[in-house]
Amino acid sequence: MSVPAARRLWAIVPAAGRGERFAYAASPSIPKQYALLRGKSVLEWSLRALLTESRIQGIVVVLAAGDERWSEIARNLDSAKLLTTIGGAHRQDSVLNGLAYLAPSVQADDWILVHDAARPCLRGSDIGALIDALENIPSGAAGGLGGAVLAAPIVDTVRRELANGLETVDRAGLWRALTPQVFGYAQLRQALEDAAANGLTVSDEAQALERLGIRAALVPGSPFNIKVTRAEDL
Ligand code: CTP
Ligand code: MG
Repeated sequence: MSVPAARRLWAIVPAAGRGERFAYAASPSIPKQYALLRGKSVLEWSLRALLTESRIQGIVVVLAAGDERWSEIARNLDSAKLLTTIGGAHRQDSVLNGLAYLAPSVQADDWILVHDAARPCLRGSDIGALIDALENIPSGAAGGLGGAVLAAPIVDTVRRELANGLETVDRAGLWRALTPQVFGYAQLRQALEDAAANGLTVSDEAQALERLGIRAALVPGSPFNIKVTRAEDL
């Protein structure tokens, strides 16, 4: 009996955003993924974290059209694993472009790890735990468990605003969804194409897959893996 080939793992890093909520006093026109954090750009830190994980075959960095800052990072990192393509109007379009770029290289059930360029504080141990969790996920399942996502428990008291005041929300079982998130290539592509065909904006991969009945295993990660959204996050 032939042994099925191992599912290989690839990464996509959407880095084509304009950072509209981020107003960088040092240089107002610079998108946040190129803002400097302890001497290196946010994007370079995010990629350095992924490059420490030897199980990742290749990393597609999805850049904005006309990006003139990438070449310096490529020079600094000097890794044959780094590939680039051009992004789209929304994050999910950029991830789809990354998937299309990988099409000639991947098998339908290869794993695709998606990590926001804007999360520079990712720890190698969290990437490792996330990839380890994939071993328990069956291949080729039509529904059920199909991927894994990093998340951090919500520790603050949570309130919902109502028309006439506030109510307290039970935070038991509530998590902040982080990246990386990992799903099978074909399922992720189908989920994002289906969302696009229906004109839906999803805020992450897991939400797109949920629409198709595919769930992700939750892997607890560091709460410091924040997304740089506003200038104060730096
Ligand atoms: N992203 C992308 N392509 C887009 C929009 C976003 O690749 N068209 C990327 C961003 O570069 C970022 C990640 O998706 O790494 C998360 O998105 P977000 O934090 O929303 O970044 P921006 O869209 O750049 O910021 P804003 O929403 O404030 O404009
Ligand atoms: Mg955005």
